[in-house]
Amino acid sequence: MGTYTITVLPGDGIGPEVIEQAVRVLHTIGERYQHTFQMHHGLVGIAAIQAEGQAISDATMELCQGSDAVLFGAVGGIAGYEGSKTQVRPENALLRLRKELELFANLRPVRPFKALLNASTIKPEVLAGTDLLVVRELTGGLYFGKPGEIRETPQGREAVDTMFYTEHEIDRIVRAAFDLSRNRRKKVTSVDKANILNTSRLWRQVAERVAGEYPDVEIDHLLVDTCSMQLVRHPTAFDVIVTENTFGDILTDEAAMLAGSMGMLPSASLGTRQTAHGLFGMYEPIHGSAPDIAGQGKANPIAAILTVAMMLRYSFGLHREADVIEAAVEQVIEAGYRTEDLKEAGKPVVGTQEMGRLIVDALS
Ligand code: IPM
Ligand code: MG
Repeated sequence: MGTYTITVLPGDGIGPEVIEQAVRVLHTIGERYQHTFQMHHGLVGIAAIQAEGQAISDATMELCQGSDAVLFGAVGGIAGYEGSKTQVRPENALLRLRKELELFANLRPVRPFKALLNASTIKPEVLAGTDLLVVRELTGGLYFGKPGEIRETPQGREAVDTMFYTEHEIDRIVRAAFDLSRNRRKKVTSVDKANILNTSRLWRQVAERVAGEYPDVEIDHLLVDTCSMQLVRHPTAFDVIVTENTFGDILTDEAAMLAGSMGMLPSASLGTRQTAHGLFGMYEPIHGSAPDIAGQGKANPIAAILTVAMMLRYSFGLHREADVIEAAVEQVIEAGYRTEDLKEAGKPVVGTQEMGRLIVDALS
């Protein structure tokens, strides 16, 4: 029994549709286990740009800062905000939240459900037994390095992005990966491009040093191109993967397909700030705003719902409640229900709301 405050930022595209179902699940868990989840909604992304002139306002940032956790839907992806002229981009909301809330560790677990092994484009015998966790560095690298700009020169335009890492930034994310691996199979794969990049050479040196403090955990190093190949060739070989921001972004879209669809993958973004209940965090499905299917009621809400389970586990320490949500999702999948993205011959296809209702029913 407890009171938890959550800032809910549904955002753009399918964000509001899937977050609505995640909130439904939270309410049901609250009633059943007598927790009070106090939810405050805020604007991010395109709606915020239109109403407040920026992708996330200072007031919304403060709301997030004052809560125990943030539940985030998706931003961006709508034509008109992608041109190089607009400085105000919906994605800025996400980057500002990650940076200012110091959420440097992004956890993206990939554990395909047995009943979905056939839904993946990868052969079921290759997938069976896959259970990996990508720990993506979230507040450094190309996303934040300066300079980062397109500029005019007498010879024409040029553009630059900067990949920058300090030893401290590498140390804390690698350490997070090692700590997490101790509750798993105690194997960390550090992914870099040390044959080319200086940031990667430093990354590898720091990873080696940190590894020395964890003699019980096995470490290996993979180049990012090799890793992207091994992920589809032999996914069961991985336990914890730790990598820098951009590599992690790319590898996790690939890894999502092991679970059948992007619509299945939750994530947690964590730092070190403690609240009265545990670690402050921001929780978001990894799939993004999917503008092509927005507003049609067919988006898969499972990633958003599993994201809530991660929130209960990591920020509130409510492990039993998190297990109950994950079991309910699995039960509905086992019963054969599928959203459009997981369509399989002979299995009933349901929409966003119906999938949410089935999962809520399976909770009780
Ligand atoms: C993700 C997304 C974001 C990222 C975008 C929307 C800025 O792709 O969370 O993986 O690149 O980090
Ligand atoms: Mg991404």
